[in-house]
Order: sequence, then structure tokens, then C-alpha cells
Amino acid sequence: MDDNYIIRHMGSKDLVEAYRIEQDNYLYPWSYANFANSLDYSDSNYIITNDSGTILGFVMLIIVVDECQITNMAIAKNHHQKGLGYNLLRYVINSLPRIVKKIWLEVKRSNTVAQNLYKKLSFNMIGLRTNYYKINTGYEDAFIFMRKIN
Ligand SMILES: CC(C)(COP(=O)(O)OP(=O)(O)OC[C@H]1O[C@@H](n2cnc3c(N)ncnc32)[C@H](O)[C@@H]1OP(=O)(O)O)[C@@H](O)C(=O)NCCC(=O)NCCS
Repeated sequence: MDDNYIIRHMGSKDLVEAYRIEQDNYLYPWSYANFANSLDYSDSNYIITNDSGTILGFVMLIIVVDECQITNMAIAKNHHQKGLGYNLLRYVINSLPRIVKKIWLEVKRSNTVAQNLYKKLSFNMIGLRTNYYKINTGYEDAFIFMRKIN
């Protein structure tokens, strides 16, 4: 990743552009209402942009006392595999309030790309939710990945 990327908090003016990335990346995207509501639940969502301000990815978080859950994350498809997801998530982890002692998320069993990213950032698989996600052929398991924060 070169230096011409900017990571900043997501605001309401970023929603439409970020939601386009959500829709492009997921077969079952969140509804726009849910996506927008995540700004009400959390002021800890981040986006990554290029130096012209075009949004290239986002990550959504919920922080409750000493725990952080990553609820959603995606990078624009034509910018995959450039290190953006890694750098965005690493930035988020390094920016967590000091009180936060663990960060966790759910990921589809089949999503080995995302699992590789989480493993690269020292997350470990700690659990399984059977048939957690509805997919076109039925249901799919979720793995729970967690990383402790020192
Ligand atoms: C998962 C996602 C965010 C990764 O973002 P990215 O910017 O493309 O990832 P990076 O370029 O930073 O890669 C970081 C690591 O992820 C893994 N990775 C990324 N792309 C991969 C691929 N096509 N195949 C295997 N591993 C891959 C690798 O471990 C990689 O490290 P490496 O380059 O040293 O091998 C992106 O693929 C995405 O938006 N996917 C769709 C939405 C999604 O699945 N979100 C997560 C839901 S839990």
C-alpha cells in the first residue's frame, strides 16, 4: 500500500458511497437502513479513501466496554489485494481505546480470503456458530475469530 491513502471516521455523507462497496461485495448485502443505522450505534466506523477522497473501503465496529466487535468490512472490488484491508484493520486495532481488551468477529466458513486477513493480524478461530448465515443453497456456518489486545 502506498502512502496516498487516508483512513478516517465514517460520517453520514460517506454512507451512499460506502454502501455501493457493500452491495458490490456481498451476495446478501445489509439493507441500506441497517447500514445507515450502524452510524447511530457506533461512532467508531472507519473508511479508507484515496487522496482524491474516493472511498475504497470501510470497517464497522461496535465497542462495548472492553470488547470490540467488527460487524462489517469490505474493500472496493477493483482495489482488492493491494493491502488496503490489512492496513485499514491494523489501523483500527491500533486506534482502539485502551480499555478494549479483545476484538472479535464472525466470518463465513467459506470466506477463506477474509479468514487469511484475520489470521495475518493475529486473530484466532475460537468458535463456531452452526448454520448461522442464510445463503441461496440453505445455511452456512460462521467461525468466530478473536484477538486479544495487550
Ligand atoms: C476480505 C477483504 C476485506 C480483504 O481486503 P484486501 O484489501 O483485498 O486484503 P489485503 O490486500 O490487505 O490482503 C491482506 C491479506 O488477506 C489475505 N488475502 C487477501 N486476498 C486474498 C486472496 N484473494 N486469496 C487468499 N488470501 C487473500 C492474505 O492473507 C493477505 O495477505 P498477503 O497479501 O500477505 O497474502 C476483501 O477481500 C473484501 O472486501 N472481501 C469481501 C467482503 C468480505 O468478505 N468482508 C469480510 C467479511 S467477514
